[in-house]
Amino acid sequence: MTTRRKFVQGAAALASASAIGALLPTPARAQSAKLRIGMMLPYTGTFAALGTAITQGFNLAVDENAGKLGGRDIEYFTVDDESEPAKATDNANKLVQRDKVDVLVGTVHSGVVMAMVKVARDSGALLVIPNAGANAATGSQCAPNIFRTSFSNWQPAHPMGKVMYDKGHRKVVTLTWKYGAGEESVESFKEAFTKLGGSVVKEMYLPFPNVEFQPFLTEIASLRPDAVFVFFAGGGAVKFTKDYMAAGLKDKIPLYGSGFLTDGTLPAQGASAQGLLTTLHYGDGIDNAKNKQFRFAYAKKFGVQADVYAVQGYDAALLLAGGLTAVKGSFGERSALYSALEKVKVDSPRGPWVMSKAHNPIQDIYLRRVDGNANEVIGVAWKALEDPARGCKMA
Ligand code: BEZ
Repeated sequence: MTTRRKFVQGAAALASASAIGALLPTPARAQSAKLRIGMMLPYTGTFAALGTAITQGFNLAVDENAGKLGGRDIEYFTVDDESEPAKATDNANKLVQRDKVDVLVGTVHSGVVMAMVKVARDSGALLVIPNAGANAATGSQCAPNIFRTSFSNWQPAHPMGKVMYDKGHRKVVTLTWKYGAGEESVESFKEAFTKLGGSVVKEMYLPFPNVEFQPFLTEIASLRPDAVFVFFAGGGAVKFTKDYMAAGLKDKIPLYGSGFLTDGTLPAQGASAQGLLTTLHYGDGIDNAKNKQFRFAYAKKFGVQADVYAVQGYDAALLLAGGLTAVKGSFGERSALYSALEKVKVDSPRGPWVMSKAHNPIQDIYLRRVDGNANEVIGVAWKALEDPARGCKMA
């Protein structure tokens, strides 16, 4: 009882601190002080490798910037969010209220990021999202202090509707985890595919991060659709392509997905991923000088190949470097900082991109085919695709 009361009182105190924070600008710390960056990412669980790649990409860009952002040295505060929505509000509040970070960077999981979005909206803290695609973060919940350097869930899945239709597929089954990113990816694919005349004969879901795929594979085999569209990522994606092949489906029913299915996962997927077609805002072999330099530097520093998550982390630091340099490292005048961040043209390994009005990248979506340990770009599935930002009313 006492413990619960303490918890409730603590939560109320945090909530009112948040409300006050929304009204008062954060006191400007001296520009000579270290920039406090709160990294809230998964370092355990099915998305652990994604959190690590984002962190490494961010660190590489900071290193290339002489260890500073906007001329300021950096102090990091790190939380493993475990891709656990139930812990997300407390984790974000710890970084904002206790550690008093200037910038919150995170996260991977769409459900966790929506808690971070709420904390950012309530407290006024600057939030930079280096992966999680929850549409609402730059849609109905968009805000001047929330920026994303990755994608909305709508973006990479949408072009796949036309890719699959053009391949001659008309009756498709979808399968994903039942949570924000899975549901929004399927919805976006379906929007494009059905508009062209295709039909989704069955939508299948399993709880996140469950990997008991067998009953679904048995049902797919008996439904015999023209093709299957999935959203999976990280460890779950590895298990899925392996199970799909082991069930004898790989050569019978073509498998497609948004590119997370095969990104950062290929050495572990081996033969099960060979030849798969996916759509994403990055591909390993993108032929530009920035990508070559980035991939070389990343492999040299970390001893592994870069992936889309590393790019998004790298770009989060590039965005902050560009915006903060324009305001000489100062958080004093928030509207000046936000308008500087809006204007940054990010010279990304994926190709240069700019922010939409809703603070989400306007970017090319590539069609990729797996060849060995690479997602080779075989075309541009959609040029300069901008998320529709449904419901965004920027204050
Ligand atoms: C998400 O939850 O938003 C997400 C997770 C992994 C890859 C892509 C999106």
